[in-house]
Amino acid sequence: PVLVVDFGAQYAQLIARRVREAGVYSEIVPHTMAVERVLEKDPAAIILSGGPSSVYAEDAPGVDPALFTAGVPVLGICYGFQAMASALGGTVARTGDREYGATVVELRGSGSLLEGTPERQQVWMSHGDAVQEAPEGFEVLATSPGAPVAAFEDRGRRLFGVQWHPEVKHSDFGQAALERFLYDGAGLQPTWTAGNVIAEQVAAIRAQVGDARVICGLSGGVDSSVAAALVQKAVGDQLTCVFVDHGLLRAGEAEQVEQDFVAATGVNLKVVDATEQFLSALAGVTDPEAKRKIIGREFIRTFEAAAREIVEEAGQDEEVRFLVQGTLYPDVVESGGGEGAANIKSHHNVGGLPEDLQFELVEPLRTLFKDEVRAVGLELGVPEGIVWRQPFPGPGLGIRIVGAVDADRLAVLRAADAIAREELTAAGLDRDIWQCPVVLLADVRSVGVQGDGRTYGHPIVLRPVSSEDAMTADWSRLPYEVLARISSRITNEVPEVNRVVLDVTSKPPGTIEWE
Ligand code: XMP
Repeated sequence: PVLVVDFGAQYAQLIARRVREAGVYSEIVPHTMAVERVLEKDPAAIILSGGPSSVYAEDAPGVDPALFTAGVPVLGICYGFQAMASALGGTVARTGDREYGATVVELRGSGSLLEGTPERQQVWMSHGDAVQEAPEGFEVLATSPGAPVAAFEDRGRRLFGVQWHPEVKHSDFGQAALERFLYDGAGLQPTWTAGNVIAEQVAAIRAQVGDARVICGLSGGVDSSVAAALVQKAVGDQLTCVFVDHGLLRAGEAEQVEQDFVAATGVNLKVVDATEQFLSALAGVTDPEAKRKIIGREFIRTFEAAAREIVEEAGQDEEVRFLVQGTLYPDVVESGGGEGAANIKSHHNVGGLPEDLQFELVEPLRTLFKDEVRAVGLELGVPEGIVWRQPFPGPGLGIRIVGAVDADRLAVLRAADAIAREELTAAGLDRDIWQCPVVLLADVRSVGVQGDGRTYGHPIVLRPVSSEDAMTADWSRLPYEVLARISSRITNEVPEVNRVVLDVTSKPPGTIEWE
């Protein structure tokens, strides 16, 4: 792999993604990992990420110079560039000229890293210190007003560095520089494709599972669907997927999984209709946390019962030994980098599975980013409607009704939600927004007028948001015409609703969901 050494501040994940976009497999390792251990991983190349520190601060993470004599090509970025310069005998100093944001650099020299890109180009800078003098043997490739040495290389030793952030889109030729490093500097080929990922994972799943039985909780979301499709491709009928219809789904969701997904993948599917069980457990409950706990608990019960049934149907001697989870690489990185004790925090992916289920986990997406999961899904023939689905919470519409949940209220919300989704899709906005919860304020009524009569109905809230990762979000500035169409259709077609309102709160302070 190409190893991205993480010096903090969240740059490493983005670098790893860009490397993979260039068709080269990459992994992230913490800067605290000893050089010997880094080299044990047999890296094809190493990239040192940016970070928040100043290289001459007392507790600044340094780089062991041994890293540069192992014969592995290295690219230093921002902090990594300065740490590299300083480890190899160059000078780094505070210039007083902080550069932050879009900056123009001028190329010079005849080096290979920036070959084929313009003499003057815009890059994204974020630094207070700068490399004043390159270490011996290095050629200076670029300068900027705040950075006399803004890029350098020692082609003989295959060591390269840039002060700017090539991984961000604001650096106009950033991806080009990364690709020059990977293909030319390190001599790598772009072989990391969805097809290769599938072949590798299929082999790995077969090796792990043998001829044992496997189950997978299917939510209809992207991750569990693609994970299931991969395992199905690897071990076929040994896999049974369990889809729990808790009655809190949106219009068409159960059908999408039951028909489209099965038709596309040929997976064994066990659909459990647990609507009555969930609705009676939820009857009269208005507190959001209480709702979430009840839904989680009922989900576990239903899933366990389904697993028992699968075992019985398969014959007494067989046990289900493996459970498929759609854990993604960012989950792994965020829970400790996949180094040492694997801290699995992925239960939410499958809708709240029990912590104490005695299964071994199969996690075929553990090395993948979301966009790679989508590419793999498309390659496996998972329907586009599922591959491009926006996030939907495990507790479903149960936490989008403010007030008690019952079948009638669910029907009202389901109708309003279907209209909103239809119109957003028709306007081509699905990929612009992160998701758009539609919320029924079931305990609120307001006066309206329709035809000649007074109405006393419920408001529907539209909550369209844009986000990178759901940790923070902003409300989406949807076109007024689209909002108008959604509003007029909902109030016309759903008799219980006489008012549509727009949530214009960012996260924080609001969360994306209302409960
Ligand atoms: P909040 O409301 O916390 O939501 O801003 C952040 C993201 O998580 C989704 N969400 C959930 N997903 N189980 C899930 O699988 C849950 O219990 C759950 N609650 C919120 C939400 O839709 C948003 O994408």
